Amino acid sequence: MPKLRIEGGNSLCGVIDIQGAKNSILPIMAATLVADGECIIENCPDISDTHTALEILRTLGALVKHRGRTVYVDCRNVIDYEIPDALMRKMRSSVIFLGALLTRHRKAVISFPGGCELGPRPIDLHLSALEKMGVTIREEFGSLYCTCPRLVGCEIPLSFPSVGATENIMLAAVRAKGVTVITNAAREPEIEDLQNFLNEMGADVCGAGSSTVIVRGVDSLAGCSHRVIPDRIVTATYLCAVAATRGNALLRKTCPRHNAALLSALRQCGCEIEAQEDYLRIACDALFSARRIRTMPYPGFPTDAQAPFMGLMCVAKGSTVFVETIFENRYKHISELQRMGARITPEGRVAVVEGVPRLHGASVCATDLRGGAALMIAALAADGISEITDIYHIDRGYERPEWVLSQLGARISRIE
Ligand code: UD1
Repeated sequence: MPKLRIEGGNSLCGVIDIQGAKNSILPIMAATLVADGECIIENCPDISDTHTALEILRTLGALVKHRGRTVYVDCRNVIDYEIPDALMRKMRSSVIFLGALLTRHRKAVISFPGGCELGPRPIDLHLSALEKMGVTIREEFGSLYCTCPRLVGCEIPLSFPSVGATENIMLAAVRAKGVTVITNAAREPEIEDLQNFLNEMGADVCGAGSSTVIVRGVDSLAGCSHRVIPDRIVTATYLCAVAATRGNALLRKTCPRHNAALLSALRQCGCEIEAQEDYLRIACDALFSARRIRTMPYPGFPTDAQAPFMGLMCVAKGSTVFVETIFENRYKHISELQRMGARITPEGRVAVVEGVPRLHGASVCATDLRGGAALMIAALAADGISEITDIYHIDRGYERPEWVLSQLGARISRIE
């Protein structure tokens, strides 16, 4: 099993480019199913979740070509409507293919997305919205058999602004009869990216980025060409890595306005940040605690940045109280950080981090994608050598992190 070996303790300095957004590419891949034509997607991150999404498309019968970071997907010959259980389990967000399959075939068979890495992740909001649009859902042996004579637009008030449910409804609504209005919709930038992609195909979607998304069904959609937005969580992770090592770096090809909450927290901790349209400069000499971090739906502090930011707060002066409001069980990284000398007390959805002057290298295990990122940050700041195992979690969302970080002078290597 591959692992990352990190010799920490030196400041990260240099220039890096940020990859395309994982949370955009996944719904966009699903959205290729609703087009009658080839879709060209640029700035596609080379991560294992992208490969899983492409595998799902190939399994369904799509023609998929990969040239560097550009992916060509043609779903005109897709006749299959069942996603194999093994692929559903590989990636929770595969549920996003449900809305798109229903638009294409008016039927779909999927299994419940597996595991419970961050606590329960139900899909009740997805299913009840689809039922409201005319879908009949039958559950048998862990599989969901979904059919509808025709998808019909309606008003869908979400009880929580779920990212995946908002996207699934948009994908089911683009060619539905009539108008769909999603209220209390999630406002994440990736939803706006999906809206732009769909509109480039000829869809009529507006409001993404606000809490009301309006989708007017159209009869047909063509192929299109689209560039995926930069990954704000990858940006957040590398900013935290630079700050944790008291470094100085330029991050290009990013979108600072998508990271407002994180940038304000970093500034509060003493980091100097220059934010322009598509790049960020960060310099950090002295690091103070953020005092209180409460994860919230966008534009609040992202739950996906909670673990990386905790890795950073482990080496800040003072205490930080974290409150995780989105997922019930998103503190698995804490016990691994403690192996490196971090002082953290978790209690339910709260965790109190008391910064220490130095962490020490240790052998640790990535517990999930962003938890793995937290360990990379802590290891880069720690004295001595750390080894991180189970890095397949990290590879789900970070494109060659050892290469990116070594561009900043990190002493990091992948041991195969
Ligand atoms: C997406 C992101 C993920 C991020 C999360 C929250 C993608 C591919 N993934 O995940 O990186 O951490 O948003 O910002 O974009 N919920 C329900 N019922 C539902 C749906 C959700 O109770 O039907 C709950 C979940 O259990 C969770 C919360 O709502 O507690 C947030 O989930 P949601 O916004 O749907 O996250 P995902 O789309 O799964």
